Amino acid sequence: MKEANSLEVVILAAGQGTRMRSQLPKVLHRLGGKPLLGHVIDAARALGPAAIRIVFGHGGEQVCAALPSADLHWVRQEAQLGTGHAVQMAQPHCADAGQVLVLYGDVPLLQADTLRAFMQSVPEHGMGLMTVRLADPTGYGRVIRDAAGAVMRIVEEKDASPEEKSVGEVNTGIMLLPGKRLGSWLERLGNDNAQGEYYLTDVVSLAREDGVEVQAFAVADPAEVAGVNNKVQLAELERAFQARQARALMLAGVLVTDPARLDIRGEIEIAPDTLLEPNVMLEGRVRIGANCVIGMGCVLRDVELGDGVEVLPYSVMEGARIADRVRIGPFARIRPGTTLAEGVHIGNYVEVKASAIGRGSKVNHLSYIGDAEIGNGVNVGAGAITCNYDGANKHKTIIEDDVFIGSDTQLVAPVRVAQGATIGAGSTITHDAPAGELTLSRPPQRTRTGWKRPTKKSG
Ligand code: UD1
Ligand code: CA
Repeated sequence: MKEANSLEVVILAAGQGTRMRSQLPKVLHRLGGKPLLGHVIDAARALGPAAIRIVFGHGGEQVCAALPSADLHWVRQEAQLGTGHAVQMAQPHCADAGQVLVLYGDVPLLQADTLRAFMQSVPEHGMGLMTVRLADPTGYGRVIRDAAGAVMRIVEEKDASPEEKSVGEVNTGIMLLPGKRLGSWLERLGNDNAQGEYYLTDVVSLAREDGVEVQAFAVADPAEVAGVNNKVQLAELERAFQARQARALMLAGVLVTDPARLDIRGEIEIAPDTLLEPNVMLEGRVRIGANCVIGMGCVLRDVELGDGVEVLPYSVMEGARIADRVRIGPFARIRPGTTLAEGVHIGNYVEVKASAIGRGSKVNHLSYIGDAEIGNGVNVGAGAITCNYDGANKHKTIIEDDVFIGSDTQLVAPVRVAQGATIGAGSTITHDAPAGELTLSRPPQRTRTGWKRPTKKSG
């Protein structure tokens, strides 16, 4: 049983999107890393509707498969005969008692708060129409009002007279419809128009005929109701979306050097007084503590950073947990499965993969650390390498507390360097090194006295 006055959302997403010139169905193109349709679904979910029904067609199962979720009801529209026909596919599933909110799958920036204000503006048993005033209304359906200012009908661009075309108030496509009336209105739609389509917009005049009040609600920000028809518009809305995210971060206390040069594609949490320098990209689930600096050109995906962390320019991090006051980069690469304890320093041209590095340890220059466990207070010299892969399997390198690894050392795993050990520079360590001792593998240095450099033969 569906409760009275329940809300059902119908999202129209069956259109072909020809102008995208893409193999991918339009609504699966990504904005902020998420499919366009995903943004619309999120806004719909925030309203707590009784059901969300998505009308799909072009792209078929690919669209449903890309957004799997138990709370979504998919309705197929075999042939795209118009927006009215699309709603007709979903209407038989909707409860008569409730209201039906129609959204478009290619209008990604619409906020749940705006939708709530829109719905509140509509009188009980009435119909709501979301409109917007555009400096250039070309291409949109115009909102035609009577002498008293009441909404009479919507006329599509292709059916409009020159006088109607001069109207600046347009239909956004978003409508709130009384479930009780909708079935009969959709049955009465015809397709005798310039495009031979069943226009949903014709329900406005049918509502008038039936004495149902049509409440127009004008949205202030055109970007919120802008649709994506081609890749130029997709890029424009991407920037608008990024600007909105950057603004929210700044208002929450995050410092952003240049909000026009920040890309966020995921679920981000950042504490106040952290600085994001230009061209930072954050993806997936990223949590950053307070007073951190994320340097120019850094890419962080699925990482968690404590407080006071410094990531110097052009570092790339993925799938890592970083404790307070760690310093990374410039030009460092931190790969999945890495945990860095408090105060660790990772310097330039260092790659760390699936390794745990203990408090205060330093790997400052040109090293590869893979599948390693490194204790506290360890110093790894320039150019040290864990040889973790024998061509078939990966092996562990264990370096205990207070070890000093000389420069240009290869640690051939599996191998353990015990507490307080020192490894001489240039060593190839193939066996465990004992605690507290100096271990090195290096031929003794020789000098050939009197040796002469070869000279170039003349003639
Ligand atoms: C529609 C409105 C127009 C409004 C404009 C706002 C109608 C007749 N016109 O025009 O008044 O100003 O949106 O952007 O409604 N769709 C289907 N099945 C179909 C046809 C469309 O699912 O058979 C979906 C599309 O995928 C899209 C939405 O409905 O998400 C709008 O369709 P579109 O063809 O873009 O409508 P417009 O001609 O732009
Ligand atoms: Ca459109």
